[in-house]
Amino acid sequence: MARIGLLTGGGDCPGLNAVIRAVVRKGINTHGHEFVGFKYGWAGVLEADVMPLTHETTSGILHRGGTILGTSRTNVFKQERGLERVQASLETLGLDALIPIGGEDTLGVAGKLSEAGVPVVGVPKTIDNDLAGTDFTFGFQTAVQIATDAIDRLHTTAESHNRVIVVEVMGRHAGWIAAYSGLAGGADVVLVPERPFDIEEVCDRLRRRHAQGRNFSIVVVAEGATPKDGGLMSEFKSTDSFGHVRLGGIAIQLEREIEQRTGFESRMTILGHVQRGGTPLAYDRVLGSRFGVEAIDAASEGDYGKMVALRGTEVVRVPLAEALAEPKLLDPKMFETAEVFFG
Ligand code: F6P
Repeated sequence: MARIGLLTGGGDCPGLNAVIRAVVRKGINTHGHEFVGFKYGWAGVLEADVMPLTHETTSGILHRGGTILGTSRTNVFKQERGLERVQASLETLGLDALIPIGGEDTLGVAGKLSEAGVPVVGVPKTIDNDLAGTDFTFGFQTAVQIATDAIDRLHTTAESHNRVIVVEVMGRHAGWIAAYSGLAGGADVVLVPERPFDIEEVCDRLRRRHAQGRNFSIVVVAEGATPKDGGLMSEFKSTDSFGHVRLGGIAIQLEREIEQRTGFESRMTILGHVQRGGTPLAYDRVLGSRFGVEAIDAASEGDYGKMVALRGTEVVRVPLAEALAEPKLLDPKMFETAEVFFG
């Protein structure tokens, strides 16, 4: 029997509650553990701010989006005496291990804590699907479905008005959401961070398509896509505590450029946080539950410094360091498949 702390950090993601529920359910029923949940990610760990995690507090949450623990983008190592404060919280609360559920930043902190001797088992989360070490993160499929539903709706209005519609989806380093939703939604152009684009080539594609008699087009762009001549096309300047620029707004500039260069009436839609909100798909509830069960088993065996991961159809454990080395960029084959259907 052990006392274990859970936290959710970084952007929220559909399926977080499924992980929390699975860790607690398996941990209590099979191992007889006790749990606390840290509020608002690493911020709660620094402040020893917790809520009890029991059968009662984790029941009825499987289908709920967001996280019952709250989340934040707090960087322990940007705080004064961050490491000591984390160690002091674990000591005060009598905790034997931590299970952080997060993406590159939250698990990056977990990796450094692990090197400093803190017992951690990580669970990978991000709608962006850009974490190495795992084939998929939970939350990704839900975000793709939301984006695909939106593209379907935008198709009919684009067609009715003879317009080009630019749809901006999330994806900071990687174009997974853009490529999957673009392929599923029948996009005519998909722009991703991995392949800097030439705006004139994009316009040429649209001109060719319209010359062939089509009177509308759908362009899907990942928020982190950049033009070949450089420059982040974000509307914002601010950075978070991990040094990431706030993204969003590339579609505004694309709409203007496409309309000016081609003469085709254009409109843009930025899907933004709607992609992260609401009910998780069954796939993400199942993957989150499988990750949670594996994570608590790893912690119970003292198999620390690991991250649970999906490899093929199996849930396995990989070293945290392996998962954090580089972001997992879009598989070129995936992009080439989406490209077959471009205008
Ligand atoms: O990391 C997931 C993500 O949704 C990114 O795609 C996006 O750039 C970022 O989070 C947005 O973060 P925030 O919710 O803090 O604006």
